[in-house]
Amino acid sequence: MNSQLIKNSLLENGTLTTSSEIQKDQLHSNPALNYVLCDSDSSRQQYQQQMTLAAQGVERWLSDPALYSGLDVASLARAINLNIADEPQPAEQVIEQALRQYLDHSLKVHHPHCVAHLHCPTLIISQTAELLMNASNQSMDSWDQSPAATVIEMKLIAWLRELVGYSTGDAGVFTSGGTQSNLMGLLLARDAVVQRVWGIDVRTQGLPPDAQRLRVICSSQAHFSVQKNMALLGLGYQSVVAIACNAQGQMDTQVLQQTIAQLQQDGCVIAAIVATAGTTDIGAIDPLQPIADIAKQQAIWLHVDAAWGGALLLSNQYRHWLNGMAQADSITLDFHKHFFQPISCGAFLLKDPAHFGLMHYQADYLNSAFDEMQGVPNLVARSLQTTRRFDALKLWMSLQHLGTAQFGALVERGIELAQQVAAKIADDAQLQLMIEPQLSSVLFRLNNPTDVLSLTPANLDLLNQQVADHLLYSGQANVGVTRFQGQTCLKLTILNPVITLPDLEKLLVLVKQQAAVLIQKIKTLETVSQRESLS
Ligand SMILES: Cc1ncc(COP(=O)(O)O)c(C=O)c1O
Repeated sequence: MNSQLIKNSLLENGTLTTSSEIQKDQLHSNPALNYVLCDSDSSRQQYQQQMTLAAQGVERWLSDPALYSGLDVASLARAINLNIADEPQPAEQVIEQALRQYLDHSLKVHHPHCVAHLHCPTLIISQTAELLMNASNQSMDSWDQSPAATVIEMKLIAWLRELVGYSTGDAGVFTSGGTQSNLMGLLLARDAVVQRVWGIDVRTQGLPPDAQRLRVICSSQAHFSVQKNMALLGLGYQSVVAIACNAQGQMDTQVLQQTIAQLQQDGCVIAAIVATAGTTDIGAIDPLQPIADIAKQQAIWLHVDAAWGGALLLSNQYRHWLNGMAQADSITLDFHKHFFQPISCGAFLLKDPAHFGLMHYQADYLNSAFDEMQGVPNLVARSLQTTRRFDALKLWMSLQHLGTAQFGALVERGIELAQQVAAKIADDAQLQLMIEPQLSSVLFRLNNPTDVLSLTPANLDLLNQQVADHLLYSGQANVGVTRFQGQTCLKLTILNPVITLPDLEKLLVLVKQQAAVLIQKIKTLETVSQRESLS
Protein backbone atom coordinates (compact mmCIF):
# COMPACT_ATOMS: atom_id res chain seq x y z
CA MET A 1 0.00 0.00 0.00
CA ASN A 2 1.40 3.41 -0.83
CA SER A 3 1.75 6.11 1.82
CA GLN A 4 -1.29 8.11 0.66
CA LEU A 5 -3.53 5.01 0.91
CA ILE A 6 -2.17 4.27 4.42
CA LYS A 7 -2.85 7.89 5.38
CA ASN A 8 -6.44 7.76 4.01
CA SER A 9 -7.24 4.54 5.84
CA LEU A 10 -5.87 5.89 9.11
CA LEU A 11 -7.94 9.04 8.65
CA GLU A 12 -11.07 6.94 7.97
CA ASN A 13 -10.74 4.83 11.11
CA GLY A 14 -9.98 7.93 13.20
CA THR A 15 -6.44 7.07 14.23
CA LEU A 16 -4.98 10.01 12.28
CA THR A 17 -5.94 13.65 12.62
CA THR A 18 -5.75 16.06 9.65
CA SER A 19 -2.73 18.30 9.37
CA SER A 20 -4.80 21.42 10.08
CA GLU A 21 -6.14 19.86 13.31
CA ILE A 22 -2.60 19.03 14.33
CA GLN A 23 -1.53 22.54 13.49
CA LYS A 24 -4.25 24.16 15.59
CA ASP A 25 -3.12 22.11 18.59
CA GLN A 26 0.53 22.62 17.93
CA LEU A 27 0.29 26.34 17.30
CA HIS A 28 -0.01 26.88 21.03
CA SER A 29 2.76 24.46 21.98
CA ASN A 30 5.12 25.17 19.05
CA PRO A 31 5.58 28.89 18.37
CA ALA A 32 7.85 28.09 15.40
CA LEU A 33 4.69 27.43 13.41
CA ASN A 34 4.05 31.17 13.59
CA TYR A 35 7.31 31.99 11.91
CA VAL A 36 8.62 29.24 9.67
CA LEU A 37 7.54 29.13 6.03
CA CYS A 38 5.94 25.71 5.76
CA ASP A 39 2.77 23.87 4.79
CA SER A 40 0.73 24.91 7.82
CA ASP A 41 -2.39 26.95 7.13
CA SER A 42 -1.19 29.77 9.31
CA SER A 43 2.24 29.86 7.66
CA ARG A 44 0.75 30.02 4.18
CA GLN A 45 -1.70 32.69 5.21
CA GLN A 46 0.97 34.80 6.86
CA TYR A 47 3.24 34.38 3.84
CA GLN A 48 0.50 35.81 1.60
CA GLN A 49 -0.19 38.68 3.97
CA GLN A 50 3.44 39.62 4.49
CA MET A 51 4.29 39.42 0.80
CA THR A 52 1.28 41.61 0.00
CA LEU A 53 2.31 44.21 2.58
CA ALA A 54 5.90 44.22 1.32
CA ALA A 55 4.78 44.46 -2.31
CA GLN A 56 2.47 47.36 -1.43
CA GLY A 57 5.42 49.05 0.30
CA VAL A 58 7.57 48.62 -2.79
CA GLU A 59 4.77 49.99 -4.92
CA ARG A 60 4.54 53.07 -2.64
CA TRP A 61 8.33 53.49 -2.80
CA LEU A 62 8.35 53.23 -6.58
CA SER A 63 5.67 55.89 -6.87
CA ASP A 64 7.88 58.41 -5.02
CA PRO A 65 9.98 60.08 -7.74
CA ALA A 66 12.90 61.14 -5.50
CA LEU A 67 16.23 59.46 -6.25
CA TYR A 68 17.32 59.50 -2.61
CA SER A 69 16.08 61.00 0.63
CA GLY A 70 19.31 63.04 0.66
CA LEU A 71 20.34 62.14 4.23
CA ASP A 72 24.08 62.29 4.84
CA VAL A 73 25.89 59.49 6.68
CA ALA A 74 25.50 60.96 10.17
CA SER A 75 21.81 61.84 9.77
CA LEU A 76 21.07 58.41 8.37
CA ALA A 77 22.86 56.71 11.26
CA ARG A 78 20.67 58.74 13.63
CA ALA A 79 17.49 57.88 11.71
CA ILE A 80 18.08 54.12 11.75
CA ASN A 81 17.19 52.31 14.95
CA LEU A 82 17.50 48.52 14.83
CA ASN A 83 14.94 48.10 17.59
CA ILE A 84 15.78 44.49 18.51
CA ALA A 85 14.23 43.43 21.81
CA ASP A 86 13.39 40.31 23.83
CA GLU A 87 9.73 40.68 22.99
CA PRO A 88 8.35 39.76 19.56
CA GLN A 89 6.89 42.42 17.31
CA PRO A 90 4.03 41.89 14.86
CA ALA A 91 5.15 41.31 11.27
CA GLU A 92 3.11 44.34 10.09
CA GLN A 93 5.11 46.58 12.41
CA VAL A 94 8.44 45.05 11.40
CA ILE A 95 7.62 45.43 7.71
CA GLU A 96 6.53 49.02 8.21
CA GLN A 97 9.82 49.78 10.01
CA ALA A 98 11.81 48.23 7.16
CA LEU A 99 9.87 50.33 4.68
CA ARG A 100 10.47 53.50 6.67
CA GLN A 101 14.07 52.95 7.73
CA TYR A 102 15.43 50.96 4.80
CA LEU A 103 13.39 51.50 1.67
CA ASP A 104 12.65 55.20 2.20
CA HIS A 105 16.41 55.88 2.41
CA SER A 106 17.44 53.56 -0.39
CA LEU A 107 18.83 54.69 -3.69
CA LYS A 108 16.41 54.33 -6.60
CA VAL A 109 18.56 52.42 -9.07
CA HIS A 110 15.85 52.80 -11.71
CA HIS A 111 15.90 56.62 -11.47
CA PRO A 112 17.09 58.20 -14.74
CA HIS A 113 19.70 60.22 -12.85
CA CYS A 114 21.15 57.19 -11.07
CA VAL A 115 24.13 56.59 -13.33
CA ALA A 116 27.17 56.43 -11.06
CA HIS A 117 28.06 52.76 -11.23
CA LEU A 118 27.64 49.46 -13.03
CA HIS A 119 24.51 49.07 -10.95
CA CYS A 120 21.41 48.25 -12.91
CA PRO A 121 17.68 48.53 -12.43
CA THR A 122 16.11 45.08 -12.37
CA LEU A 123 13.52 43.30 -14.47
CA ILE A 124 10.08 42.67 -12.99
CA ILE A 125 10.30 39.03 -14.02
CA SER A 126 13.59 38.72 -12.09
CA GLN A 127 11.83 39.99 -8.98
CA THR A 128 9.24 37.26 -9.50
CA ALA A 129 12.05 34.75 -9.86
CA GLU A 130 13.64 36.00 -6.63
CA LEU A 131 10.38 35.32 -4.84
CA LEU A 132 10.36 31.73 -6.10
CA MET A 133 14.05 31.25 -5.35
CA ASN A 134 13.75 32.64 -1.86
CA ALA A 135 10.59 30.76 -0.96
CA SER A 136 12.04 27.44 -2.10
CA ASN A 137 15.52 28.16 -0.68
CA GLN A 138 17.28 25.54 -2.76
CA SER A 139 21.00 25.16 -2.23
CA MET A 140 23.15 24.43 -5.25
CA ASP A 141 25.86 22.47 -3.47
CA SER A 142 24.20 19.09 -3.90
CA TRP A 143 21.56 17.62 -6.13
CA ASP A 144 19.47 16.40 -3.18
CA GLN A 145 19.18 20.04 -2.01
CA SER A 146 18.22 21.43 -5.42
CA PRO A 147 17.06 18.77 -7.89
CA ALA A 148 15.34 20.89 -10.54
CA ALA A 149 17.55 23.90 -9.84
CA THR A 150 20.72 21.88 -10.50
CA VAL A 151 19.40 20.69 -13.83
CA ILE A 152 18.22 24.17 -14.84
CA GLU A 153 21.54 25.76 -13.90
CA MET A 154 23.48 23.16 -15.89
CA LYS A 155 21.25 23.62 -18.92
CA LEU A 156 21.60 27.39 -18.71
CA ILE A 157 25.38 27.08 -18.45
CA ALA A 158 25.27 24.90 -21.58
CA TRP A 159 23.20 27.62 -23.29
CA LEU A 160 25.65 30.33 -22.22
CA ARG A 161 28.58 28.24 -23.50
CA GLU A 162 26.92 28.05 -26.87
CA LEU A 163 26.30 31.79 -26.77
CA VAL A 164 29.99 32.60 -26.21
CA GLY A 165 31.06 30.09 -28.86
CA TYR A 166 32.42 27.35 -26.59
CA SER A 167 31.99 23.67 -27.43
CA THR A 168 28.93 21.87 -26.12
CA GLY A 169 28.97 20.85 -22.48
CA ASP A 170 28.16 22.36 -19.13
CA ALA A 171 31.56 23.32 -17.69
CA GLY A 172 30.73 26.44 -15.80
CA VAL A 173 28.91 27.59 -12.73
CA PHE A 174 26.88 30.50 -11.44
CA THR A 175 28.80 32.77 -9.09
CA SER A 176 28.22 35.72 -6.80
CA GLY A 177 29.53 38.04 -9.53
CA GLY A 178 32.58 39.27 -11.38
CA THR A 179 35.04 39.21 -8.50
CA GLN A 180 34.36 35.56 -7.74
CA SER A 181 34.40 34.54 -11.40
CA ASN A 182 37.74 36.30 -11.87
CA LEU A 183 39.05 34.52 -8.78
CA MET A 184 38.08 31.18 -10.29
CA GLY A 185 39.83 32.00 -13.56
CA LEU A 186 43.00 33.11 -11.80
CA LEU A 187 42.97 30.16 -9.40
CA LEU A 188 42.68 27.60 -12.18
CA ALA A 189 45.24 29.42 -14.35
CA ARG A 190 47.70 29.50 -11.43
CA ASP A 191 47.21 25.85 -10.60
CA ALA A 192 47.39 24.72 -14.23
CA VAL A 193 50.71 26.46 -14.80
CA VAL A 194 52.18 25.29 -11.48
CA GLN A 195 51.27 21.73 -12.41
CA ARG A 196 52.79 22.12 -15.86
CA VAL A 197 55.98 23.96 -14.89
CA TRP A 198 56.71 22.60 -11.39
CA GLY A 199 54.78 19.31 -11.48
CA ILE A 200 53.08 20.36 -8.24
CA ASP A 201 49.39 19.99 -7.37
CA VAL A 202 48.70 23.25 -5.53
CA ARG A 203 45.43 21.88 -4.15
CA THR A 204 47.21 19.21 -2.11
CA GLN A 205 50.80 20.42 -1.90
CA GLY A 206 50.48 24.18 -1.75
CA LEU A 207 52.54 26.65 -3.73
CA PRO A 208 56.10 25.91 -4.85
CA PRO A 209 58.85 27.68 -2.86
CA ASP A 210 59.63 30.07 -5.72
CA ALA A 211 55.99 30.80 -6.52
CA GLN A 212 56.76 34.52 -6.37
CA ARG A 213 58.01 34.06 -9.96
CA LEU A 214 54.39 33.73 -11.08
CA ARG A 215 52.89 36.67 -12.94
CA VAL A 216 49.51 37.69 -14.33
CA ILE A 217 49.32 40.32 -17.05
CA CYS A 218 46.33 42.63 -17.44
CA SER A 219 45.81 46.19 -18.65
CA SER A 220 46.08 49.21 -16.38
CA GLN A 221 42.29 49.58 -16.77
CA ALA A 222 41.51 46.01 -15.62
CA HIS A 223 39.25 45.61 -12.61
CA PHE A 224 40.92 45.80 -9.20
CA SER A 225 39.68 42.30 -8.41
CA VAL A 226 42.68 41.00 -10.41
CA GLN A 227 45.02 42.50 -7.79
CA LYS A 228 42.80 41.54 -4.89
CA ASN A 229 42.41 37.97 -6.10
CA MET A 230 46.13 37.50 -6.69
CA ALA A 231 46.73 38.66 -3.13
CA LEU A 232 44.11 36.11 -1.96
CA LEU A 233 45.90 33.45 -4.01
CA GLY A 234 49.04 34.07 -1.98
CA LEU A 235 51.01 35.82 -4.70
CA GLY A 236 50.46 39.44 -3.76
CA TYR A 237 49.95 42.53 -5.83
CA GLN A 238 53.57 42.12 -6.99
CA SER A 239 52.42 39.28 -9.23
CA VAL A 240 50.19 41.56 -11.31
CA VAL A 241 51.79 43.33 -14.24
CA ALA A 242 49.37 46.04 -15.34
CA ILE A 243 50.43 47.18 -18.77
CA ALA A 244 49.82 50.41 -20.62
CA CYS A 245 46.70 51.05 -22.63
CA ASN A 246 46.30 52.79 -25.96
CA ALA A 247 44.38 56.06 -26.29
CA GLN A 248 41.08 54.14 -26.22
CA GLY A 249 41.91 52.59 -22.84
CA GLN A 250 42.47 49.14 -24.40
CA MET A 251 45.37 46.82 -23.70
CA ASP A 252 48.23 47.67 -26.05
CA THR A 253 49.14 44.37 -27.70
CA GLN A 254 52.61 45.52 -28.68
CA VAL A 255 53.35 46.31 -25.05
CA LEU A 256 51.82 42.93 -24.17
CA GLN A 257 54.30 41.12 -26.41
CA GLN A 258 57.24 43.12 -25.08
CA THR A 259 56.11 42.48 -21.50
CA ILE A 260 55.81 38.73 -22.05
CA ALA A 261 59.32 38.62 -23.56
CA GLN A 262 60.77 40.70 -20.71
CA LEU A 263 59.08 38.64 -17.99
CA GLN A 264 60.30 35.41 -19.56
CA GLN A 265 63.80 36.81 -19.78
CA ASP A 266 63.59 37.72 -16.09
CA GLY A 267 62.74 34.11 -15.21
CA CYS A 268 59.08 34.79 -14.43
CA VAL A 269 56.32 32.25 -15.14
CA ILE A 270 53.24 33.84 -16.67
CA ALA A 271 50.13 32.21 -15.25
CA ALA A 272 47.56 34.19 -17.21
CA ILE A 273 46.70 37.10 -19.40
CA VAL A 274 43.50 38.79 -18.25
CA ALA A 275 41.77 40.65 -21.05
CA THR A 276 38.83 42.87 -20.19
CA ALA A 277 35.72 43.12 -22.32
CA GLY A 278 34.28 46.33 -20.92
CA THR A 279 36.54 48.12 -18.45
CA THR A 280 34.75 49.49 -15.41
CA ASP A 281 35.34 53.20 -16.05
CA ILE A 282 35.78 53.55 -19.79
CA GLY A 283 33.88 50.52 -21.07
CA ALA A 284 36.89 49.66 -23.25
CA ILE A 285 37.09 46.24 -24.84
CA ASP A 286 40.63 44.92 -25.14
CA PRO A 287 41.52 43.60 -28.62
CA LEU A 288 40.43 40.06 -27.85
CA GLN A 289 41.43 38.32 -31.07
CA PRO A 290 45.05 39.55 -31.17
CA ILE A 291 45.40 38.85 -27.44
CA ALA A 292 43.99 35.34 -27.93
CA ASP A 293 46.51 34.75 -30.72
CA ILE A 294 49.39 35.86 -28.50
CA ALA A 295 48.16 33.73 -25.59
CA LYS A 296 47.88 30.69 -27.85
CA GLN A 297 51.29 31.20 -29.36
CA GLN A 298 52.86 31.51 -25.90
CA ALA A 299 50.70 28.76 -24.35
CA ILE A 300 49.47 31.17 -21.67
CA TRP A 301 46.04 30.85 -20.06
CA LEU A 302 43.68 33.56 -21.29
CA HIS A 303 40.94 34.73 -18.98
CA VAL A 304 38.42 37.22 -20.36
CA ASP A 305 36.69 39.40 -17.81
CA ALA A 306 33.46 40.12 -19.67
CA ALA A 307 31.63 41.16 -16.50
CA TRP A 308 30.21 44.14 -18.34
CA GLY A 309 30.80 43.57 -22.05
CA GLY A 310 29.38 40.04 -21.92
CA ALA A 311 25.94 41.61 -22.37
CA LEU A 312 26.91 42.32 -25.99
CA LEU A 313 26.48 38.61 -26.62
CA LEU A 314 22.77 39.39 -26.87
CA SER A 315 23.22 42.24 -29.33
CA ASN A 316 23.19 41.44 -33.04
CA GLN A 317 24.63 44.86 -33.73
CA TYR A 318 27.60 44.85 -31.34
CA ARG A 319 28.29 41.17 -30.70
CA HIS A 320 31.26 41.24 -33.05
CA TRP A 321 33.06 43.52 -30.56
CA LEU A 322 33.62 40.29 -28.60
CA ASN A 323 35.24 38.38 -31.48
CA GLY A 324 38.05 36.25 -30.12
CA MET A 325 36.44 35.71 -26.71
CA ALA A 326 35.57 32.08 -27.53
CA GLN A 327 39.27 31.27 -27.54
CA ALA A 328 39.66 32.20 -23.88
CA ASP A 329 40.36 29.40 -21.39
CA SER A 330 37.89 30.96 -18.99
CA ILE A 331 35.31 33.73 -19.03
CA THR A 332 33.63 35.93 -16.44
CA LEU A 333 30.03 36.93 -17.09
CA ASP A 334 28.07 39.11 -14.70
CA PHE A 335 24.32 39.35 -14.96
CA HIS A 336 23.77 41.94 -12.22
CA LYS A 337 25.27 44.56 -14.51
CA HIS A 338 24.01 44.94 -18.07
CA PHE A 339 21.65 41.92 -17.91
CA PHE A 340 19.39 43.79 -15.45
CA GLN A 341 19.38 41.07 -12.78
CA PRO A 342 19.03 41.65 -9.03
CA ILE A 343 22.26 41.20 -7.08
CA SER A 344 23.76 38.67 -7.04
CA CYS A 345 24.08 36.84 -10.33
CA GLY A 346 27.25 35.97 -12.22
CA ALA A 347 28.79 33.05 -14.05
CA PHE A 348 32.15 31.48 -14.70
CA LEU A 349 32.66 29.51 -17.91
CA LEU A 350 35.55 27.10 -18.38
CA LYS A 351 36.62 26.06 -21.84
CA ASP A 352 38.14 22.70 -20.91
CA PRO A 353 36.04 20.88 -18.26
CA ALA A 354 39.11 18.85 -17.21
CA HIS A 355 40.48 21.96 -15.52
CA PHE A 356 37.74 21.73 -12.88
CA GLY A 357 39.81 18.79 -11.61
CA LEU A 358 42.32 21.33 -10.28
CA MET A 359 39.83 22.45 -7.63
CA HIS A 360 37.96 19.21 -7.12
CA TYR A 361 37.22 18.28 -3.54
CA GLN A 362 35.25 15.30 -2.43
CA ALA A 363 32.98 15.91 0.56
CA ASP A 364 31.39 12.62 1.61
CA TYR A 365 28.16 14.31 2.61
CA LEU A 366 27.75 16.26 -0.65
CA ASN A 367 29.54 14.84 -3.70
CA SER A 368 30.50 11.38 -2.52
CA ALA A 369 32.47 9.04 -4.78
CA PHE A 370 29.32 6.87 -4.85
CA ASP A 371 27.20 9.76 -6.17
CA GLU A 372 29.83 10.83 -8.67
CA MET A 373 30.19 7.32 -10.03
CA GLN A 374 26.47 7.30 -10.69
CA GLY A 375 26.63 10.67 -12.41
CA VAL A 376 24.74 12.62 -9.77
CA PRO A 377 25.52 16.27 -10.61
CA ASN A 378 26.56 17.92 -7.36
CA LEU A 379 27.73 21.37 -8.41
CA VAL A 380 29.75 21.97 -5.24
CA ALA A 381 32.80 20.58 -7.05
CA ARG A 382 32.68 23.47 -9.55
CA SER A 383 32.18 26.29 -7.10
CA LEU A 384 34.22 28.19 -4.53
CA GLN A 385 31.07 28.39 -2.45
CA THR A 386 29.38 25.53 -0.68
CA THR A 387 25.86 26.75 0.09
CA ARG A 388 24.84 28.72 -2.97
CA ARG A 389 21.75 30.52 -4.23
CA PHE A 390 19.83 29.44 -7.32
CA ASP A 391 20.54 32.68 -9.15
CA ALA A 392 20.25 31.00 -12.54
CA LEU A 393 16.47 31.01 -12.20
CA LYS A 394 16.14 34.75 -12.66
CA LEU A 395 18.33 34.83 -15.76
CA TRP A 396 16.46 31.91 -17.28
CA MET A 397 13.05 33.46 -16.66
CA SER A 398 14.29 36.84 -17.97
CA LEU A 399 15.64 35.35 -21.19
CA GLN A 400 12.36 33.58 -21.80
CA HIS A 401 10.17 36.55 -20.95
CA LEU A 402 12.02 39.19 -22.95
CA GLY A 403 13.33 36.98 -25.72
CA THR A 404 16.95 37.41 -26.71
CA ALA A 405 16.24 39.98 -29.46
CA GLN A 406 14.42 42.36 -27.13
CA PHE A 407 17.02 41.77 -24.42
CA GLY A 408 19.77 42.69 -26.89
CA ALA A 409 17.87 45.83 -27.90
CA LEU A 410 17.82 46.99 -24.26
CA VAL A 411 21.60 46.61 -24.09
CA GLU A 412 22.03 48.48 -27.38
CA ARG A 413 19.89 51.33 -26.07
CA GLY A 414 22.50 52.14 -23.40
CA ILE A 415 25.28 52.20 -26.00
CA GLU A 416 23.36 54.51 -28.30
CA LEU A 417 22.34 56.87 -25.51
CA ALA A 418 25.96 57.10 -24.38
CA GLN A 419 26.99 58.15 -27.88
CA GLN A 420 24.23 60.75 -28.03
CA VAL A 421 24.96 62.33 -24.66
CA ALA A 422 28.71 62.29 -25.39
CA ALA A 423 28.04 64.35 -28.51
CA LYS A 424 26.11 66.90 -26.39
CA ILE A 425 29.02 67.10 -23.92
CA ALA A 426 31.56 67.54 -26.71
CA ASP A 427 29.52 70.52 -27.98
CA ASP A 428 29.29 72.19 -24.58
CA ALA A 429 31.99 74.76 -23.78
CA GLN A 430 31.54 74.27 -20.03
CA LEU A 431 32.26 70.54 -20.23
CA GLN A 432 35.07 68.37 -21.51
CA LEU A 433 34.51 64.89 -22.93
CA MET A 434 37.45 62.81 -21.68
CA ILE A 435 37.22 59.97 -24.22
CA GLU A 436 34.79 58.76 -26.87
CA PRO A 437 32.34 56.36 -25.18
CA GLN A 438 32.66 52.62 -25.63
CA LEU A 439 29.88 50.43 -24.31
CA SER A 440 27.78 52.91 -22.33
CA SER A 441 30.15 54.81 -20.11
CA VAL A 442 30.62 58.55 -20.58
CA LEU A 443 33.61 60.21 -18.88
CA PHE A 444 33.61 63.99 -18.73
CA ARG A 445 34.49 66.87 -16.47
CA LEU A 446 33.65 70.49 -15.80
CA ASN A 447 36.09 72.79 -17.51
CA ASN A 448 37.96 75.45 -15.58
CA PRO A 449 35.48 78.37 -15.35
CA THR A 450 38.21 80.85 -16.34
CA ASP A 451 35.69 83.54 -17.34
CA VAL A 452 34.60 83.69 -13.67
CA LEU A 453 37.71 82.55 -11.82
CA SER A 454 40.71 80.37 -12.53
CA LEU A 455 40.97 77.25 -10.39
CA THR A 456 44.16 75.38 -9.66
CA PRO A 457 44.18 71.80 -11.04
CA ALA A 458 43.58 70.50 -7.49
CA ASN A 459 40.62 72.83 -6.98
CA LEU A 460 39.17 71.92 -10.35
CA ASP A 461 39.35 68.27 -9.28
CA LEU A 462 37.62 69.23 -6.04
CA LEU A 463 34.91 71.14 -7.91
CA ASN A 464 34.10 68.06 -10.00
CA GLN A 465 34.02 65.87 -6.89
CA GLN A 466 31.84 68.29 -4.94
CA VAL A 467 29.33 68.75 -7.73
CA ALA A 468 28.68 65.00 -7.63
CA ASP A 469 28.50 64.98 -3.82
CA HIS A 470 26.03 67.88 -3.71
CA LEU A 471 23.82 66.29 -6.34
CA LEU A 472 23.58 63.10 -4.26
CA TYR A 473 23.01 64.83 -0.93
CA SER A 474 20.29 66.96 -2.49
CA GLY A 475 18.67 63.76 -3.74
CA GLN A 476 18.86 64.91 -7.36
CA ALA A 477 21.37 62.61 -9.01
CA ASN A 478 23.99 59.95 -8.46
CA VAL A 479 26.82 60.70 -10.86
CA GLY A 480 30.07 58.71 -10.75
CA VAL A 481 33.40 60.24 -9.81
CA THR A 482 36.65 58.65 -10.92
CA ARG A 483 40.19 59.49 -12.02
CA PHE A 484 41.18 59.45 -15.67
CA GLN A 485 44.56 60.58 -17.02
CA GLY A 486 45.43 62.02 -13.63
CA GLN A 487 42.30 64.14 -13.34
CA THR A 488 39.10 63.80 -11.35
CA CYS A 489 36.17 63.44 -13.69
CA LEU A 490 32.51 62.57 -13.72
CA LYS A 491 31.08 59.38 -15.08
CA LEU A 492 27.71 58.37 -16.47
CA THR A 493 27.19 54.63 -16.67
CA ILE A 494 24.08 54.27 -18.77
CA LEU A 495 22.69 50.79 -18.20
CA ASN A 496 19.09 51.74 -17.52
CA PRO A 497 17.02 51.32 -20.70
CA VAL A 498 14.27 53.51 -19.26
CA ILE A 499 16.52 56.60 -19.48
CA THR A 500 15.92 59.04 -22.35
CA LEU A 501 18.22 61.61 -23.92
CA PRO A 502 16.19 64.51 -22.38
CA ASP A 503 16.78 62.87 -18.95
CA LEU A 504 20.52 63.02 -19.55
CA GLU A 505 20.37 66.56 -20.94
CA LYS A 506 18.56 67.58 -17.77
CA LEU A 507 21.27 65.88 -15.74
CA LEU A 508 23.96 67.90 -17.53
CA VAL A 509 22.02 71.07 -16.70
CA LEU A 510 21.93 70.01 -13.02
CA VAL A 511 25.71 69.41 -13.09
CA LYS A 512 26.35 72.87 -14.51
CA GLN A 513 23.88 74.56 -12.17
CA GLN A 514 25.49 72.90 -9.15
CA ALA A 515 28.93 73.93 -10.41
CA ALA A 516 27.74 77.53 -10.81
CA VAL A 517 26.53 77.57 -7.19
CA LEU A 518 29.87 76.23 -5.93
CA ILE A 519 31.89 78.59 -8.13
CA GLN A 520 29.88 81.52 -6.82
CA LYS A 521 30.62 80.40 -3.26
CA ILE A 522 34.36 80.16 -3.97
CA LYS A 523 34.30 83.58 -5.62
CA THR A 524 32.53 85.12 -2.63
CA LEU A 525 35.09 83.57 -0.27
CA GLU A 526 37.94 84.84 -2.43
CA THR A 527 36.50 88.37 -2.48
CA VAL A 528 36.07 88.32 1.31
CA SER A 529 39.64 87.10 1.87
CA GLN A 530 40.99 89.69 -0.61
CA ARG A 531 39.10 92.42 1.25
CA GLU A 532 40.38 91.14 4.58
CA SER A 533 43.98 91.05 3.35
CA LEU A 534 43.63 94.64 2.04
CA SER A 535 42.19 96.04 5.26
C1 LIG B 1 35.19 44.66 -15.45
C2 LIG B 1 34.72 44.23 -14.10
N1 LIG B 1 35.09 43.03 -13.62
C3 LIG B 1 34.71 42.58 -12.41
C4 LIG B 1 33.91 43.36 -11.60
C5 LIG B 1 33.51 42.85 -10.26
O1 LIG B 1 32.20 42.40 -10.32
P1 LIG B 1 31.34 42.15 -8.99
O2 LIG B 1 31.10 43.50 -8.41
O3 LIG B 1 30.12 41.50 -9.51
O4 LIG B 1 32.14 41.28 -8.10
C6 LIG B 1 33.49 44.62 -12.05
C7 LIG B 1 32.65 45.46 -11.21
O5 LIG B 1 32.29 46.54 -11.52
C8 LIG B 1 33.91 45.06 -13.33
O6 LIG B 1 33.56 46.25 -13.79
